Amino acid sequence: MDDDRPLFFHVMAYADAADGDVINMVSGDPDWEPPTALREGLREFADAPVDDYQYPPSEGDTALRETIAARHDVPVERVVVTNGAGEANHLAMACGLDAHAGSEVILADPVYPYYANRAEMLDAEVRYVPADDDGRLDPVAVRDAASADTALIVTCSPNNPTGAVYGEEIKRELTAIAEETDALYVSDEVYAAFDYTGRFHTALDFESSNVAVTSSFSKAMATTGLRVGYGILPKHLIDPVRTRHMLTNVAVTAPGQHAVLKALRETPEDYYAETRALLRDRIDAFCAALDAAEAEYTRPEGAFYVLARFDGFPGTLENVKRLIDEAGVAGMPGDAFGSAREDWLRFALVTPRATEAADRLADYFA
Ligand SMILES: Cc1ncc(COP(=O)(O)O)c(C=O)c1O
Repeated sequence: MDDDRPLFFHVMAYADAADGDVINMVSGDPDWEPPTALREGLREFADAPVDDYQYPPSEGDTALRETIAARHDVPVERVVVTNGAGEANHLAMACGLDAHAGSEVILADPVYPYYANRAEMLDAEVRYVPADDDGRLDPVAVRDAASADTALIVTCSPNNPTGAVYGEEIKRELTAIAEETDALYVSDEVYAAFDYTGRFHTALDFESSNVAVTSSFSKAMATTGLRVGYGILPKHLIDPVRTRHMLTNVAVTAPGQHAVLKALRETPEDYYAETRALLRDRIDAFCAALDAAEAEYTRPEGAFYVLARFDGFPGTLENVKRLIDEAGVAGMPGDAFGSAREDWLRFALVTPRATEAADRLADYFA
């Protein structure tokens, strides 16, 4: 990287500047409609009294926190509303590193790059544990890597970029390892609404004081620009997280919180089921085209990313640019996600043109 912007922005800029028509599969920005109630909530807020435009409570709107707490069956004190899952994850990592002995962060490889960037920014050492071929993390390998120096274990399920869903057993084991090494297990559950297997399990179920969960409405409600997320913290991290959040952000935007609360109250389950059905169709079409192109790939069990490898075409930045110029499809180079899949490419299925992109890839590699 030439500067400190993630590689992702460089690829987006290259795709935007390309001459031909490019199907953008770089970013994880949903392309479907947010819930109707969310749009209504924003309109409603526009006419709110002037008092509602002032600072909301720093830890989040009380009714929103109560709703989140009820959904996760946790005491409301544990919920802090943040600027997306990103902020919640950063705060959990920063405060976890402060509160727990050791300076090592265990991450899966392939990794969601922001975890690694955050660890680096927080002066922590990263210890990577390679994921299985199916993209899941083996707790036995995590146990081997863990030591008294482990301060954090950070995972994401459903996973970006592998699409793997970690089931109950894996999360139970990761929680146990965090307890044994007095580390904090930060479980990023931002893609919980996109589980196609029924295997998703929240790390909150183990009622451990070594677990923090971070999540948001960015993906579930197709609203990454609204920046409403939350952390569910163990008792010892509530005050440190609240303080850092307050000193950095003061609070999360009031219209966003208002709209999300309305959407949580009024959105039927069908909304999420329809989104999953839409994505399942895209996954099927995309994977069928990858079969036609004789690519190796991981079929996602959750989230909306596909990792693929094409024979003789390693997923380098140079090849990503070639694919943009010559096939009109923009993905991400595998080495953006660690070293385990550096030969692969990641495609985000968040475009209505996913099937067309798949056909372009099949033609290109035919
Ligand atoms: C694994 C993971 N965690 C967190 C985020 C950030 O979510 P938010 O928009 O809620 O900050 C993303 C966004 O792509 C993600 O992929």
